[in-house]
Amino acid sequence: MSIRRTREDSHSAGSDPFGGDADFGVWADQKDKPEKRMTELKVAVIPGDGIGPEITTAAIQVMEAAARKFDVKLTHDSAPAAAAAVDLGLPPLPDATLKLCRDSHAILCGPFGDPRWDNAPPADRPERAKLILRKTFELYANLRPVKPVPALLDSSPLRRELVEGADILIVRELVGGLYFSEPRGYFEDEKGRYGINTMKYHAWEVDRIGKVAFEAARQRRNSVHSADKANALEATQLWRETMQKLHDKQYADVALKHVFVDNCCMQLVAVPKQFDVIVAPNMFGDILSDIGAQITGSLGMLPSASLGAGVPLFEPVHGSAPDIVGKGKANPLAMILTVGMLYTHAAKRPDIGTAIDDAVAAALDKGYRTADIARGNEGEKLVGTQQMGEAVLAALGA
Ligand code: IPM
Ligand code: MG
Repeated sequence: MSIRRTREDSHSAGSDPFGGDADFGVWADQKDKPEKRMTELKVAVIPGDGIGPEITTAAIQVMEAAARKFDVKLTHDSAPAAAAAVDLGLPPLPDATLKLCRDSHAILCGPFGDPRWDNAPPADRPERAKLILRKTFELYANLRPVKPVPALLDSSPLRRELVEGADILIVRELVGGLYFSEPRGYFEDEKGRYGINTMKYHAWEVDRIGKVAFEAARQRRNSVHSADKANALEATQLWRETMQKLHDKQYADVALKHVFVDNCCMQLVAVPKQFDVIVAPNMFGDILSDIGAQITGSLGMLPSASLGAGVPLFEPVHGSAPDIVGKGKANPLAMILTVGMLYTHAAKRPDIGTAIDDAVAAALDKGYRTADIARGNEGEKLVGTQQMGEAVLAALGA
């Protein structure tokens, strides 16, 4: 697999300096090119903060079991980042951790964040390490699938008939927009202190994330909603124009609808089934994906893949849940589903990804529930992190 093309190897130009053709092979060419499948897989594991280490232990067991079952030669090494690294006297993203990532085919990453830094400025917060990782490897496409598992249809605060059959892929732009554009920071003028963040998008940035969304839609139900705020923000007016041009030029076969992001939030809870692929700028995608989580019943169920020019990164959408750390009750399923996405997208083994998804669904069908998804219904078995992991292993049959 061609990996490790990082920012340092690239040159800025008017068009996508990173080439734009990231290896998203599982969509377009997986069936035609089975040789892309990997038989050897080296994974850098960053357990992260809070419940990260607990859910990572469960996820690694599933990753290893799947490797045994499907004959993948898997190796993995762990390294600290974020608050876990700071507690060891290291920077939030230690050089050795970055090197391990660079030397791997994929990064499996737990949640970052620690309440001890709750009032710190963004640049000093340990979760900044995640943003640096995303940027270092130019992981511009963050895929966040939102698909309720049948056994959890009653766990959503939305009525069953609204969420049953929903199957959405949120494609979030991940290395531009409000999170990364300059100028940013704290300043002071005659009226006092102020903070600035900038939302800036070049047309090439919109083009490359737009392509990911359209390509994904072609493998799904052929529809893309592009979320913007073109009625108020120039950056997203350009986003809208660029999406439309890309559509007309290369993807006229895919249905494209532009939707204001505030309306998109409302539509997501009102009629979630109308959506197939939603593509959104960084900040909007962050918000939309948390709303999406409630369609599945719990943020503890959402995996994600971040793909782009360099080593792909896989992480659950949820945070480090400091309130339940060390109690053994965290839901490991988002992290386990994340391992599934790792096999699908990094190892080009969608068959293994599907097997892991199926094993999670089977464990839930048997009634196993962690506290966040338990509803006290008949047949439910309330379990902790480890038992839930074991239920998935049993269902995987490995
Ligand atoms: C996410 C998270 C991160 C983000 C935080 C932890 C910086 O909310 O991955 O959705 O905003 O991207
Ligand atoms: Mg978020």
